[in-house]
Amino acid sequence: EKEGYEHFMIKEINEQPKGVHDTLHRRLNKEEKIELDGIKLTKEDLDRINKVYIVACGTAYHAGLVGKYAIEKFAKIPVDVAVASEFRYSDPFIDENTLFIAVSQSGETLDTLAALREAKRKGARIMSVVNVVGSSVARESDDVFYTWAGPEIAVASTKAYTTQLVSMYLIALNMADTKGSISQERYTEIVNELKTMPLKIENIVKNDEDLQKLADEQFNKENAFYIGRGLDVCVASEGSLKLKEISYIHSEAIAAGELKHGTIALIEEGRLVIALATQDRLYDKMLSNIQEVRARGAYVIGVAKEGNKEIEKTADKVIYIPDTMDELTPILSVVPLQLLSYYIAVARGCDVDKPKNLAKSVTVE
Ligand code: M6R
Repeated sequence: EKEGYEHFMIKEINEQPKGVHDTLHRRLNKEEKIELDGIKLTKEDLDRINKVYIVACGTAYHAGLVGKYAIEKFAKIPVDVAVASEFRYSDPFIDENTLFIAVSQSGETLDTLAALREAKRKGARIMSVVNVVGSSVARESDDVFYTWAGPEIAVASTKAYTTQLVSMYLIALNMADTKGSISQERYTEIVNELKTMPLKIENIVKNDEDLQKLADEQFNKENAFYIGRGLDVCVASEGSLKLKEISYIHSEAIAAGELKHGTIALIEEGRLVIALATQDRLYDKMLSNIQEVRARGAYVIGVAKEGNKEIEKTADKVIYIPDTMDELTPILSVVPLQLLSYYIAVARGCDVDKPKNLAKSVTVE
């Protein structure tokens, strides 16, 4: 059932255009407006909601970080994102004006489910973004939004993540539209841009020779640092998790502005740094950060939008993603990071689909 692919992970990376397309298009009506089948939030409900908690584990948590950005930016509601194992013991501020959003591929992650139950007990409205239909998280939610990723077999999550991202954008835009906190022009502009994502992802996946070459050069590294600013920090976290879980290379993601508050002490000759610089308004700042680590001997792989060539002067190697609006870059920029991790793990001879000590679905505490 790997359909000719060597591993489920690379098959699932390749299935992302379809997953993203299906997750999006099943929610667009004839007028190109978002219609969320399983979600019944009315304008009155939304006007009452003064706080959103997004709670999840691992990769799903990283999708939640982007969700916070999208909901705050478009729907103008304050959002907290928490890892489920912390949330459930943190005595969070929750009442009937709180919207709780669980994000989970499997819908069976024990900590996420326990956090959901705790939020429900305290009176929150429960929404979930889930891939497995009829799973526990879905069954216990008031509103369910299904990602249409299809079954994900590899332990390392890839297509679940990109479809979770699309879901977060659709939920945020739908909330914004219902509340009236976004103009119709802007709304249409973003929906139209979302529609270009499947093709753009395909473009990255089909042209991965540079990433394979880079992996063959860099696979022996013991450490890697992922840096970025703004939305790029969320993607840095996901890229870092992807690398460590399948290649066993120690890796860390940090906000680039935090480098000089400690982590830069670890930058020395030959250190691998993956620098995401996709945000236009933060581009120059990122170029300075790249210079800082290069000056200390780091080998820097930059990730930037096509056309932003300035970065070639500072980074050792640049991976370009197709141009898109800053708000949506995570859907694209994570793809080269998934591929890089995959090829590095393959070069190291790791059991890519079943990394040691890990289970696909964590149903114990
Ligand atoms: O099924 P879930 O989305 O609730 O799973 C959450 C995490 O266990 C999962 O994302 C994990 O971090 C993956 N191995 C990441 O690739």
